[in-house]
Amino acid sequence: MGEIKTKILLDEARIQARVKELAEQIDQDYADCDDLIMVGVLKGAFIFLSDLSRLVAIRRSVDFISVSSYTGSVSGNVRMLMDIRRNIEGKHVLLVEDIADTGRTLVYLKHLFETRSPASVRTAALVRKLDRMEHEVHIDYLGFDIPDVWVVGYGLDYDEQLRTLPYIAEIEPPTQ
Ligand code: PRP
Repeated sequence: MGEIKTKILLDEARIQARVKELAEQIDQDYADCDDLIMVGVLKGAFIFLSDLSRLVAIRRSVDFISVSSYTGSVSGNVRMLMDIRRNIEGKHVLLVEDIADTGRTLVYLKHLFETRSPASVRTAALVRKLDRMEHEVHIDYLGFDIPDVWVVGYGLDYDEQLRTLPYIAEIEPPTQ
């Protein structure tokens, strides 16, 4: 891979402060809930879920789901790669995403989980690209709105690299 120039968009302190605020909001909203299931959407959400789930104080468990989305000729399709194994009937579920780009993944997952008779399904995303939204989905716990630029870090990758940066940076992918 050629050298990739990065420009910090959201630094570590800003992200951590916002994740803490979101955790406090979740604690308030689910104060009466005795078993929140926080479901991270692999792979990108693994860092956000990890930080968020450790900052909430209410009783919670974590789980993971993996989907792949097709773009291009079959735009709009999302395929399940790995489902959660828990029965969510009567449970409160919080879907946790690193990014809402077109919104396709969250719309698909929200509808899917709602068919499983949960007590509730809400959504969290650290960042959202409002200008890219094609599928309307309400995000209950949103970190930041960001411009339509290519971003890496805090779970987000470029060709599987740069996911583990503690901040979110804008990049210009190198031309071949
Ligand atoms: C990214 C991201 C979201 C999805 C958002 O996943 O983690 O799951 O795209 O896009 P959408 O709003 O247009 O559906 P990606 O497919 O890149 O996989 P990864 O998380 O494993 O990197």
